[in-house]
Amino acid sequence: MNNMGVGMAITGCGSAAPESILTNDHLAQMVDTSDEWINIRTGMKNRHIASPSESLSQLSAVAAKGAIAMAGISPTDIDLIILATSTPDDLFGSACRIQGLIGATNAVAFDLTAACSGFLFALITASQFISTGMYHNVLVIGADVLSRWVDWSDRTSCILFGDGAGAVVCQGVKDNRLLSFGMYSNGSQNDSLNLNYHGNGKPLVDNLTVQHGSYNPITMNGKEVYRFAVAKVPEAISKTMFQANLTADDIDWLLLHQANQRIMDAVAKRLNIAQSKILSNIAEYGNTSAASIPLALDAAVRDGRVKPGDIIAASGFGAGLTWGSAIFKWG
Ligand code: UT7
Repeated sequence: MNNMGVGMAITGCGSAAPESILTNDHLAQMVDTSDEWINIRTGMKNRHIASPSESLSQLSAVAAKGAIAMAGISPTDIDLIILATSTPDDLFGSACRIQGLIGATNAVAFDLTAACSGFLFALITASQFISTGMYHNVLVIGADVLSRWVDWSDRTSCILFGDGAGAVVCQGVKDNRLLSFGMYSNGSQNDSLNLNYHGNGKPLVDNLTVQHGSYNPITMNGKEVYRFAVAKVPEAISKTMFQANLTADDIDWLLLHQANQRIMDAVAKRLNIAQSKILSNIAEYGNTSAASIPLALDAAVRDGRVKPGDIIAASGFGAGLTWGSAIFKWG
């Protein structure tokens, strides 16, 4: 909390996922893999995949409306919209389209890209605008449609990703409920996970040449990212627990980016947090990148597992490499 005395509370959440489901058995028809291998190595069974007529903006708008309704405010009360995504419908950004779709006419809106850490980074960014007193009601959305950028012939990565959107409403309050946070980057490992632009030279005029191309499909060194996550995520959460003067026993729920069930289990074990406190929806949604944390949160809030006042330790990690942690009291 800053010296103006403005804290932050997360007062509503919502989510949306496409209807079409891609199962492990479907994937086994496409590449040399099996339901058993995928389930044992990742914990995944299904992923929801956007059809050509479904957009990231539409999914995000549904999630946003759910969060706004739960918070008990109206779209016109929103001051700021931050859309965390790596897969916007429009490279100029999709936050403004969402602002239009939900009628948040008083909000300024922009995109933020930090891959699978995006939602967490956006949440922390929202807290900064709230703590300075600049904005009171901030809508944070994490959404990705990575299925657009998957190499469907690469069995080491195509089994992992699904599509979805999740959102939360953050509000300025006296009693600060964002207890601590930390954000980190390591560009020296940037090559581990990429969705790179690739352009060929296109002669323009005289001696001038421009790049003309598109984005290559996702490439990932799975083992390297796995090792990074298992090392850095517990470290980041330990730091935020220390800053918040909390121990592992104080944590009610562990809310991690849903990249691999084995990563979540290993992080919980290192932190001495019971496996039963892990909020996981990985079996149903796979890795939905920036959407995974708010999707898992929304399900747990709506089915009554997460209750007002529960202490949640969240952590996102992924391409960049980026990672971060935030501890907050729900509601
Ligand atoms: O959201 C961004 C963050 N991303 C992540 O956190 C991903 C982190 N990485 C992972 O989750 C895991 O590394 C994977 C799930 C991607 C892979 O699991 P792994 O236990 O690290 O497997 P591996 O890469 O060590 O591969 C083991 C074997 C290899 O065969 P050989 O060389 O031992 O003969 C692979 O070729 O499994 C093979 N393999 C597969 N077999 C069946 C790799 N992918 C598959 C597959 N089906 N889909």
